[in-house]
Amino acid sequence: MTKRVALVTGGNGGIGSAICAELASQGHAVVAGYFPPEKEAAEAWQKEMKDQGLEIDLAAMDVSNFADCERAVGEIAGKHGSVDILVNCAGITRDGVLKKMPEENWKAVMATNLDSAFNVTRHVLNGMLDKGWGRIVNIASVNGQRGQFGQANYSAAKAGMHGFTMAVALETAAKGITVNTVSPGYIATAMTSAMPENVLEAIVNSVPMRRMGKPEEIANAVAWLASEGNGYTTGANIPVNGGLFTSH
Ligand code: CAA
Repeated sequence: MTKRVALVTGGNGGIGSAICAELASQGHAVVAGYFPPEKEAAEAWQKEMKDQGLEIDLAAMDVSNFADCERAVGEIAGKHGSVDILVNCAGITRDGVLKKMPEENWKAVMATNLDSAFNVTRHVLNGMLDKGWGRIVNIASVNGQRGQFGQANYSAAKAGMHGFTMAVALETAAKGITVNTVSPGYIATAMTSAMPENVLEAIVNSVPMRRMGKPEEIANAVAWLASEGNGYTTGANIPVNGGLFTSH
């Protein structure tokens, strides 16, 4: 296996952790991007991963800030070499019905969940083009595919992410780079456990598999999309949602 340099934004989050663990266990050099104010928590997380035998580097980066992403990506390249595998996984929720949604909740979600894909990918892409090899995986959501009551901001940002995937896939298809989306359903992480319990229970009951997904089930799909073996799937949106939403 060729050892690659992988950057996972939101790498210390619920799904991000599983992705970092999977890529590191395959032997890649993995860097977890984390939100700068969460330095202490990120360092504690890094230690936990180390205790499990996984060496993962950390990079402070505010994905909503273009210049900060440029700085962080430059530092990663100086330390490890240019990024070969990029997983845009950083994301937040600010749930609430549109009729009551404050502007700041719209803007925060668009900046962290959608602007981030541009802010990070823009600084990574030229290195992949120079090398003639790259894998980009954008983590969206089932709710970007079908909409969700109380998530106009999140659904819009996640749907936008897949539009970004499709466009960049076309621009890079002839250059050895694949760009794909993974759309998780309801996965057992801190993000879903912050939901009102009765709302979450009703949603899980409506999932054909009658359970939440595991972060590792997302990581498996990401690892395949990021592998050498995936040379021909690009611009796709892979659902990992227990059957909650199907489309052709
Ligand atoms: N469809 C239709 N109507 C609904 C509804 C639904 N899914 N959910 C609630 N309603 C109705 C209620 O029945 C209620 O009706 P009445 O006013 O007639 O009684 C009305 O809407 C208000 O409902 P709430 O009391 O729940 O309203 P609220 O303001 O207290 O809360 C909310 C609204 C914050 C959006 C809350 O419902 C909520 O948190 N929903 C969960 C949203 C969600 O799925 N978030 C996912 C987070 S995890 C994630 O995002 C990861 C991922 O990718 C999947």
